[in-house]
Amino acid sequence: MIRVSGKEVAAKVRQEVQQACARFIESTGNRPCLAVILVGDDPASATYVASKGKACDQMGFLHRDYHLEATISENELIKLITALNEDIAVDGILVQLPLPSHVNEHKVLDTVSADKDVDGLHPTNMGKLILGTPVFIPCTPGGILRLLDEYEIDTVGKQVVVVGRSNIVGKPIAALLMQKGRDATVTICHSRTADLAFHTCSADILIVAIGSPLAITASMVKEGAVVIDVGMNRMSDTSRKRGYRLVGDVDFDQVAPKCFAITPVPGGVGPMTIAMLMKNTLHAAVLHHGRSS
Ligand code: GUN
Repeated sequence: MIRVSGKEVAAKVRQEVQQACARFIESTGNRPCLAVILVGDDPASATYVASKGKACDQMGFLHRDYHLEATISENELIKLITALNEDIAVDGILVQLPLPSHVNEHKVLDTVSADKDVDGLHPTNMGKLILGTPVFIPCTPGGILRLLDEYEIDTVGKQVVVVGRSNIVGKPIAALLMQKGRDATVTICHSRTADLAFHTCSADILIVAIGSPLAITASMVKEGAVVIDVGMNRMSDTSRKRGYRLVGDVDFDQVAPKCFAITPVPGGVGPMTIAMLMKNTLHAAVLHHGRSS
């Protein structure tokens, strides 16, 4: 069984971006700049945002962190995004999800200028991705593709089953893997799928992104499958100093012996998401510089 190390591949991507960033700064005199907006005090989101800032520092990017009260109005949030859209010093804008329920997520994400949308969640960028001409690939799906490539896991003609239909992972990864060149046969399952195990058992490559701890058990996986676990669930664990441990959507200990390859949690898909965000931010800066010079 191959344990797919997102930690190692993410370090490689980060090194590539760091080197490309140094060349960008040398040739343009500009430093890429990412603005990150966090609304409210969700502890997991605060941790992700802090990691994004640290990654920017390591890359040689500038970053601006906006931490807003959970009670902020939708209009105030939209006003901030509009100002960042117009600010030529800002290359990328990321609004950390989830947003508080009184804020319309679609309206907020639509406000982010498509050419600063390093998360790839703007309708224009989603549309381009579906059409097979992506500009910004959403970070987690982009990370999954890179892991498959690094481990030379071929998807042509393979049965891929995606469990989860989120805008941020399920829908885009399904769209990407069905494109010409990737050529997978893709099935998308969700919370209302009848007989989930019937579908998951047919998967050559099983991608799980449902946010449900240890939901995929050994009997739901085909012998020799590749399993990509996107789950990052906090499970109470009093033996740990921080009071919890991270587990995936897949019961790793049970499932791993049946797999050809599997991503662990932590250290699998998670580190790839931030690495791909760095790649997208540099890409935004390159596009931005091309337009402004
Ligand atoms: N929340 C969890 N993952 C992500 C992500 O990739 N991007 C954003 N914006 N929010 C998230």
